[in-house]
Amino acid sequence: MSPLLSRRRPSAALALCVTALIATGTGAAPPEPAATARAAAALPYQDPSLPVADRVADLLSRMSLDDKLGQMTQIEKDALVPQSDLATYRIGSVLSGGDSTVSPNNAQTWADTYDSLQRTALTTPLAIPMIYGIDAVHGHNAVRGATLFPHNIGLGATRDPALVQDVGHAVAEEVSGTGIDWDFAPCLCVARNDRWGRTYESFGETPELPSAMTTFITGLQGQAPGAGPASVLATAKHYIGDGGTSGGVDQGDTQVSEAELRAVHLPPFKEAVRRGVGAVMLSYSSWNGVRSHANKYLVTDVLKGELGFGGFVVSDWAAVDQLDGQTGFTGAEVATAVNAGVDMVMVPHDYKKFLGLLRGEVTAGRVPQARIDDANRRILTKKFQLGLFEKPLTDRSYTGTVGSAAHRSLARQAVRASQVLLKNDGGVLPLPTSARLFVAGKSADDIGNQSGGWTVGWQGRSGAVTDGTTILQGIRAAVPDPSRVTYDRYGNGIGSGYTAAVAVVGETPYAEGRGDRPGSLGLDQEDLQTLARLKASGVPVVVVLVSGRPLDIAAQLPDWKALLAAWLPGTEGAGVADVLFGAYAPTGKLPVSWMSSAAQEPVNDGDGKVPLFPYGYGLTYGGTQPDPDPTPTPTPTPTPTPTPTPTDGACTAAFRTVSSWQGGYQAEVTVKNTGAAALTGWSVDWDLGGSTIASLWNGTLTTAQGRATVRNAAFNGSLSPGATVSFGFTANGTAGTPAPHCAAG
Ligand code: GLC
Repeated sequence: MSPLLSRRRPSAALALCVTALIATGTGAAPPEPAATARAAAALPYQDPSLPVADRVADLLSRMSLDDKLGQMTQIEKDALVPQSDLATYRIGSVLSGGDSTVSPNNAQTWADTYDSLQRTALTTPLAIPMIYGIDAVHGHNAVRGATLFPHNIGLGATRDPALVQDVGHAVAEEVSGTGIDWDFAPCLCVARNDRWGRTYESFGETPELPSAMTTFITGLQGQAPGAGPASVLATAKHYIGDGGTSGGVDQGDTQVSEAELRAVHLPPFKEAVRRGVGAVMLSYSSWNGVRSHANKYLVTDVLKGELGFGGFVVSDWAAVDQLDGQTGFTGAEVATAVNAGVDMVMVPHDYKKFLGLLRGEVTAGRVPQARIDDANRRILTKKFQLGLFEKPLTDRSYTGTVGSAAHRSLARQAVRASQVLLKNDGGVLPLPTSARLFVAGKSADDIGNQSGGWTVGWQGRSGAVTDGTTILQGIRAAVPDPSRVTYDRYGNGIGSGYTAAVAVVGETPYAEGRGDRPGSLGLDQEDLQTLARLKASGVPVVVVLVSGRPLDIAAQLPDWKALLAAWLPGTEGAGVADVLFGAYAPTGKLPVSWMSSAAQEPVNDGDGKVPLFPYGYGLTYGGTQPDPDPTPTPTPTPTPTPTPTPTDGACTAAFRTVSSWQGGYQAEVTVKNTGAAALTGWSVDWDLGGSTIASLWNGTLTTAQGRATVRNAAFNGSLSPGATVSFGFTANGTAGTPAPHCAAG
């Protein structure tokens, strides 16, 4: 039973009436007249006391072929002209694509638009409510004024599935407040090549990290079956292998063995299914030359059969139309996709032609009626579970949560936890709040840049695109005397006498293929010129990198005293300032390996390459993880065994459960040098108590006789007295209260 629950206001009464069906336009044949539900006596499918399966069966038995084909059709809101076509063609779903909006763009208008469309849908003879989908991928990002959270790459850096679940629930409340029932999120892509324009939509490069962050699904749909007042349908996307294409080309070809596809790209979907995800969206990309939208083995046999996915599969935007490489639907494309296992087609525009072709394929016997019924059964099951039949209209009690102080506070915490400190020479960070600072960079005072793509528009854009706090505003708010903070985007006017220069640089917004970088992955000329001005002043430079992925910065790194990867933090830029001034010591860990140069891509954990910063790397304050060699040798040279400096070899290990879920948990172990001299290495062992480690970062694991032993990684073995480092892992089973033992050497 999916944990979907209604969270909608009762409608006054379902408006049931016979609709004069006047089908106009080419394409679909006029819908057959269908049985007219009687308003007076509730029919079985209208009785919420009955089991969902019974309601679905009853409703299916009353549906005409056109009713059923309409349920499999999803169209863009702006393509629905006239709006009455929603009823005329029995359309079952509407979406807002990346650039679809309302005017004025606020929560109230979105809710009014939703309710108007729903009322139209309910005028059909069977009064089947429509379901409305949108990409709320880092908050309800289509709505101006909504809370924008860090994009997934930043959430992956938090290593905190419980926090990500809370983010999902906050997003669900804001989405619910606009009436919308379905979120095309989370992306469970495993980004294997940072050239890919959608790297920032991934929680990380290993299957374990996106798998752990499927808690976002529970946040969206409900804490557990039967709980969760605000609940919207979640979508695991894009099935499968979108992050593994050759060269990181968006919508390209993932050329890997089935074993690698299953090992790297399938686990997050398996976990999503286990968590009851309501929908799965297919990937534009191909696997070994076969497009996912045409791959019956992957969609029907593996996803629905082997993994037991009981929700429905939706195609991506116009992906079915593109199957033959030409624009314009053909019957063959429609039949191929539906027979492969697509249950709902995101058309999204030419719905009349689509419906006409689908009807033709069914009547010609090329798409079995059983396939149509299975698709409808899946879709209607989710509509019933969402409570759309009982409460089809917006629950306005959530409308006020859009951009609320509580949500912005949560987003600020997510920003803090997502920051990854990669360099901190001489402990230049945290900055004293008394510091005299010079702030520069194109992304210091630009909420559009710090929010990235999918922000009040598909591609996002630089500038004041929505309400929130820029990083500069966060810095000024954090200090007692803002007059001691000077800002010039280009670094003009900097002189000596500043405690530090803070350069906030990186990428401007992009989405999908427009973000692909087949060539350079370096900083742009404006940033390089700004950094050169700051360097020339002799003032220590702290770089805050606002980007959707690692960038090729090894050549510039030696000029920087500190480097903080901020990713794409969203509207709460103050969270970055919290880390810069030490209000929050950085805890973030790299969710992706950081290339030593663009030519090194793809570079991933365990592939034998030596990145500039490894997956899982991240410093904290007071930490002594040495800065990795900024120009690491391309192949690891054996390091001579150091003559051990005299140590009394004392260290302790403290175990902390970061989060837990049914059947698993994530933990962090902090190692502290309690001796009087430096440690050159450490190991920690503990009794696993029957649990098994699924993934581990910041250390190297061995297990024997039910005990785990973790030794330091190459970059975090040296510990000065009193310093700490940590490693983390996810495990199956229960955490218990292990007493890890630490040993030096
Ligand atoms: C896009 C994206 C997908 C999104 C869909 C609807 O092209 O690939 O992630 O959900 O269209 O906007």
